[in-house]
Amino acid sequence: MGKLFICDHPLIQHKLTYIRDENTKTKDFRDLVDEVATLMAYEITRDIPLEHVQVKTPVTTADCRIISGRMLGLIPILRAGLGMVDGILKLIPAAKVGHVGLYRDPDTLQPVEYYVKLPTDVLERELIVIDPMLATGGSANMAIEVLKRRGCTQMKLMCLIAAPEGIKAVQQEHPDVDIYVAAVDDYLNDHGYIVPGLGDAGDRLFGTK
Ligand code: PRP
Ligand code: URA
Repeated sequence: MGKLFICDHPLIQHKLTYIRDENTKTKDFRDLVDEVATLMAYEITRDIPLEHVQVKTPVTTADCRIISGRMLGLIPILRAGLGMVDGILKLIPAAKVGHVGLYRDPDTLQPVEYYVKLPTDVLERELIVIDPMLATGGSANMAIEVLKRRGCTQMKLMCLIAAPEGIKAVQQEHPDVDIYVAAVDDYLNDHGYIVPGLGDAGDRLFGTK
């Protein structure tokens, strides 16, 4: 089963509180999501491999380490996943970005695919699938499936807030995918919204309703 990592750094938890607050307006909401994404990128890259190199400092030769292994790819699930991309790119500027467009049918809560565009070298990259909300898990599962169908093998899932139902769904369908979240909330309401959650992430990010 995929591991669940809860990124409980105080800065992440502090900012998440303001993200949840219904009084937080679009600009601040967007800025806070961006900042939390940067902080979570720090956590999600904790296990990336390093290799030894030597550099000549002005004083002597130093044994140092640099990142090795696969390059990274970010896969935001449209729309709301877009809100976390720039925050991650601040730490990992060489990452390429692919997009998977899904929306959740409001009646059935089933995800509907409408767009996929991936980097040409996606198969050589370790991927981070990004979405602020993991509710039923349908969208995350479909995005991961879209990537696997194209041959991708190495990926992690990064969300701000998850419902227990969504975590369970992804762990069951994709046991090879580790999940990184800032918080696990209580449950889903009758409309498939995470409780207490933050409302509709896409609408709050982009000022739509
Ligand atoms: C939201 C959210 C996730 C999905 C989560 O997107 O950003 O993609 O719902 O729900 P699930 O786990 O039950 O699938 P939405 O469909 O509202 O689209 P949007 O990002 O365009 O607003
Ligand atoms: N999508 C959201 O944006 N919020 C939820 O609570 C559930 C799905």
